[in-house]
Amino acid sequence: MSRKTHLITTALFYANGPLHLGHMLEMIQADIHARNLRRLGHRVIFISGDDQHGTPIMLQAEKQKMTPRAMIDVIYQLHRADIQDFHISYDHYLGTDHESTRSVLSVIYEKIKPLCIQKDIQQAYDDQKQMFLPDRYLKGKCPKCKAPDQYGDNCEACGCTYTINDLIEPYSILTKQPPSQRSSKHLFFDLAKLKDVINSWQSQAKMPPNVKNKLKEWLDDLQPWDITRDGPYFGFEIPDRPGQYFYVWLDAPIGYIGILGDYLKSDPFLIWDHENTHITHFIGKDIINFHGLFWPAVLHAAGIRQPDALNVHGFVKIDGQKMSKSRGTFITARQFLDQIPAEYLRYYFASKLTDATEDIDLSLADFKNKVNGELIGKIINLGNRLMGILTKHFDGQLLEVDRQDPLWVSGESRQVIIQEYWLSGNYQAAMREIIAWVNEANQYVDQMAPWKLIKDQLSIGLAHQVCSLGFHIFFKVMNQLSAVLPNTYQKLTAVLIIDNQGLLGAQTVRNYPRLLERLTDQQVDALVNEVTN
Ligand code: MSP
Ligand code: ZN
Repeated sequence: MSRKTHLITTALFYANGPLHLGHMLEMIQADIHARNLRRLGHRVIFISGDDQHGTPIMLQAEKQKMTPRAMIDVIYQLHRADIQDFHISYDHYLGTDHESTRSVLSVIYEKIKPLCIQKDIQQAYDDQKQMFLPDRYLKGKCPKCKAPDQYGDNCEACGCTYTINDLIEPYSILTKQPPSQRSSKHLFFDLAKLKDVINSWQSQAKMPPNVKNKLKEWLDDLQPWDITRDGPYFGFEIPDRPGQYFYVWLDAPIGYIGILGDYLKSDPFLIWDHENTHITHFIGKDIINFHGLFWPAVLHAAGIRQPDALNVHGFVKIDGQKMSKSRGTFITARQFLDQIPAEYLRYYFASKLTDATEDIDLSLADFKNKVNGELIGKIINLGNRLMGILTKHFDGQLLEVDRQDPLWVSGESRQVIIQEYWLSGNYQAAMREIIAWVNEANQYVDQMAPWKLIKDQLSIGLAHQVCSLGFHIFFKVMNQLSAVLPNTYQKLTAVLIIDNQGLLGAQTVRNYPRLLERLTDQQVDALVNEVTN
């Protein structure tokens, strides 16, 4: 019997701009999962990459007077730096614009072709720019209230919804010119033919109940899915349709397999299709249709194994507001890192994430309180105060743990509970249990008051025991937090000797490091200033 491999992905991140805190939520959530699994001895392959194709990327490059290829390389390097500095432990991170994805795509294309139908479609065309216009590149007057400059699906002024053809006096947002209409032949993947297949996959796959319900609702209205785009387009050209390209949302998820292949430097299907591989996609709630309808259908049609789980999260809000540049609530990963250590965000997000798809509010006041009051004030401080006494009065000597002590025994059962919360994705509950554990240890230390016990020769030995037990518990707590605070945990373990049961034996601890510093108002203010200016 061979061991299970956990193949974990985050979504692929568009290569038309920097990573922001919404992206970081997804990476941090998945990274904690990957690290916890590895800590428990599981085999993990954690991959992702940049989504490097599509109209927005083509136009963004044009704006910057670069070729798309040059721009995606620059963005790739920026993304990589953010990923490293946020301690995201991807085993591999690559873009989709590589041979590794193209080759998988062409295999899949041949297999899904029999399920495709060709249709003539009319599309808006920008004569000046000489390109077809996706819906989001058109604006016009609202058909109901006549407000100007509305997008083709709903009106921001009166809130009504409509379809693109209802827009009054439509114009191209690229040239402000009214579009003409052109027709061309597109290839559509006939989703409705696979309704039963998608349905049964949805029933088996693990995902939040509300996501499952939503996906099931959509089953009743499966439209043929257009997988072609006319040039100019930045993407993979379709082998037997010169001048046409694969729609980015076809090649993006195929990128998961391509990136896996590039990581393995061999046939990705040896892992992907293996019965002992467990595939989990971490995604945001905005892209569940792609991962819960199209993707399992494409995979089935191509005879490829479908994913086992969708881990779906909500959206990051800043002080209750949607992230938006105009509101000054758009925070890039780099702007954050410039002021505040990454682990503070990891800690905060971990304390908020559950297995549900609710939005996550980053309230800056709450953030500061959590970091200073909880992480520094309760957790880090527990280790600091105990090691302070051990160093000063006992030459850094740590006694062996008393495994019969009720406090230690209670910690053992807490760990089992915490472990379950971690693995089930309820990080918030794991963090609550950790804090309760730390509170218990802090109360014990307060009650025993080792700083008083050391003053009397008769009780100094007890002081030594109290501080040692407290520090052993602190270390176990930090071990439970190691997936959240990998850097701090590493700093800690660098000065400790850990036995093969993961315990600290009797030892002398020297050069105990400063693990984390309090967050200052200046740091938070500087972040707010950087974002709003
Ligand atoms: N490129 C596609 C995904 C292709 S996957 C085969 C895409 N890219 S994205 O850059 O827009 O988003 C990447 C991931 O970040 C998605 O899972 C998305 O849901 C998530 N988020 C984007 N903005 C977000 C927030 N504000 N908050 C939380 N997650 C967010 O979609
Ligand atoms: Zn309107």
